[in-house]
Order: sequence, then C-alpha cells, then structure tokens
Amino acid sequence: MERVFPKFANATKLHKTLLLSLPHKVTSLTSSLAVFSKHNVNLIKIESRPNRFDKKVIDFVVNVDEGVSKDIVDRAIKEMVQEKICDHVQYLGFENKIPWFPTKIADIDHFARECLEAGAVLQADHPGFHDQEYRDRRKMIADIALNYKHGSPIPRIDYTETENKTWSIIYKKLTALYPKYACEQYNNLFPLFEQNCGFKEDKIPQLQDVSDFLLSSTGFRIRPVSGLLTSRDFLNALAFRVFHSTQYIRHHSKPYYTPEPDVVHEMLGHMPLLADSDFAEFSQQIGLASLGASDEEIDRLVRLYWYCLEFGILKENGSLKAYGAGLLSSFGELEYGCSGIDAETGKKPEYLPFVPEDAANRVYPITHYQPIYYVVESLESCKDLIRRYVNNSLDRPFQLKYNPYTSTVDVLDSQEKLISLTKTIQNNMDLLKSSLSKIGRSYEINNKK
Ligand SMILES: [Fe+2]
Repeated sequence: MERVFPKFANATKLHKTLLLSLPHKVTSLTSSLAVFSKHNVNLIKIESRPNRFDKKVIDFVVNVDEGVSKDIVDRAIKEMVQEKICDHVQYLGFENKIPWFPTKIADIDHFARECLEAGAVLQADHPGFHDQEYRDRRKMIADIALNYKHGSPIPRIDYTETENKTWSIIYKKLTALYPKYACEQYNNLFPLFEQNCGFKEDKIPQLQDVSDFLLSSTGFRIRPVSGLLTSRDFLNALAFRVFHSTQYIRHHSKPYYTPEPDVVHEMLGHMPLLADSDFAEFSQQIGLASLGASDEEIDRLVRLYWYCLEFGILKENGSLKAYGAGLLSSFGELEYGCSGIDAETGKKPEYLPFVPEDAANRVYPITHYQPIYYVVESLESCKDLIRRYVNNSLDRPFQLKYNPYTSTVDVLDSQEKLISLTKTIQNNMDLLKSSLSKIGRSYEINNKK
C-alpha cells in the first residue's frame, strides 16, 4: 500500500552505523562485543581501520541490526564508555533526529534506571541531610521504585509513627483550607479519596490503593519513582496515563517544608484531580505531545505543565480557586495564590488569562512563590486550549493516537492507519446519531404523556 506521508522513521526501526574508537590492544574488540552481546545488540557487519589522528586507537565501523532500538544501543555504549572499553563513539547514518520515545506502557520501565537523582541522594541543605536513619529509610523506599516493573502491585510501606505524624500535621492544616481555596472539582473528589483510598489524618495513604481508584475513574495509574526523572521521561509517561509518584515523606523536623516532591505533595496535590476526566485528559495531551518532541518543545511543555498542573488557578463564581498541585500541597502559597496577597510580605501576584502560547514561553521561578498565575475559566476550557495548542503549535512532523485497549501509541504514518481512524470516527458518528434519535424518541414519548 502506498504511503500517504513520507514514512516517519520511528527510532525503533533505524539502520544504525556506529564508529567505535577503541584502544589499540588485543582485548578491545572482544570486550566491546561482549557488551553488545550482553545487551542483545545484533551486529551485522564490522570493519576495522586505523584512527587518523592517534596510533594508539583503532576505529571499528559497526552496522547494527535495524531491529535493535536506539535506547538499547545507547545503553551498551554508555556501559562501554563507563568501563573504559571505548574511547569515543560516533553515530553515523542516523537520518532521523526524532528522539526515541516509548510506544507501549511497559517501555516506561526503562525510565527508572535513568533517574537524575535517586531519593537516597540528599543535597547538603536538605533537612534530613545529617539524619542517617532518615537517609537509610529513604533509600529503602527509593529502592522499591528502582526495582518496580509495570503490572506488578506497588509494595505497601509500613510507615513509622514519626512519618505518619508528619503527614498528620500537614493534612490537618491543608484540609482546613480546601473548602475556601481548592476548586469545586477537588472538593467534590476529596471525599471519594477518603472513602476509597485511605485518605485520613493519621495515616499516609498507600500508592496502590490510590492507583486502583484512579484506574477505575479515569484510567490513570501510579508508578513509584525513586527520585527526579528527566522532564522528557516524566511527561512521556503521562501519554500512557501513568503518573510517577514518590513514596517517601519529607523530614519530620520541617513538616511544612520540602525541597522536592514527596508523598504529601503527590497525594494531596496531584491525586484528587487525576480522577477528574477533563484534568486527566489535558494531562495526557501534554504527555502525548512530548513523545518524540524536540528538546525545545519539551521545555515549552514543561512550562505548560508547570502553569497548569502545578500552579493552575481557575475562576469560580468570581473567586480564585486552586487546581495546581504546587498550590494544593503548600498552605502558604495556597493562601497567597488564591487570596491575592502574601500576608507576611504584602506581595501581590499577577493574574493572566491562560494563553498556552504565552505560558509555554514564560520562564518560572522554583525557589519562591510564583509572581504570575494563569487563570482558566474551567478545567474543560483548559482542556480545549491545551488540545488546540498541542495540535497546532508543535513542530513534530507526525501525529500519534493513543490506544486505550492496549495502552500503546500508534504513529499515524500510513494510509491504512488513517483509513482505520476514519472508520472508528464513522462508527462513533453512527453511535451518536443512533443515541440522538433514541433520546429524541423518548423525549417525544414523554411529552405526549
Ligand atoms: Fe508536582
């Protein structure tokens, strides 16, 4: 069948040629072949040639089987460089500059090993830095995430009395503010989290319980994460309705302060609204837009995420209400952001109507309260604005469709796929027509009675 568009060369199917520069010694090639073999990288051709600049180095031009994904090759190369088997590597014949991206939900398992900062590594100014017991505990919890695989239950944590007490202090303070400052959807969903997910004052909820509830509400699920992921990996997971959540809690010495996301921020900030269909949809839209996006586009999507999912405010009967997790998990900024003034300093934030193109290009501060908040009319309008932005403003030369039955993404790059999409739309239109006619008939019958 003829292609409608030039075939989009997904990074999973590329012809790869590598130029490996190895130390000129007998064992170099065998050592590098052992690493390729360990990572199941099939080689189809190897040629040697002297290095033009250094006699102590020998170059090998290596052709890799095109069925091997680039990330697997990357991992093999990374190991060779770390083990000092290889001095230098150059990728040749890579016409495609589109970054690798996951196409099925289990691909997200790769991200765990790419954490920028594991939960056990604390900065010197972290409140728990000098507390070895806290650090050991964090490492134990972070290791669960490192070893987690898609589909397995998230191990339950038997939180200590100290940890539950820290949770309790913040829970009491924040839940007292939600009726006044959280948006209506958040306040409607919160009792469901109390009933179904173990949200209560004296105990930290378990990730698996929350994940089960989200899955039945909007198809979102939680994955434990050991620390900070790259922006690309974090956003990519949202495409599959997967939210990475930390499982450890901040240090008990400063219950109202955390320099990084912890289980309080995730549970009270993010989780309730992931059970809202509009919120879930625009979260996934940002995720889908991030698949195969350029680094610059990832930066723009991160800002969009920041101004909506972290610090979004909406207007409700003339009042400002929070829907962003950064606000909903910080009592100080929740009051400042929604009341319009910092009670301590008298500082006032600026409010702008949410325009995705503007938000996506505005750099934000991370160390103090936001000077600017974008305000949406409703979560539904936010969803429509984000959908329009991701469909029209991104440079990516292809479009993707998420398949919720298989939790996979399809690249719409062939006539067959577009015909199949057209048939699905046609079926849905038939369903809509039939439903409208049935509703119309029952309306007529009721009116005649
Ligand atoms: Fe967050």
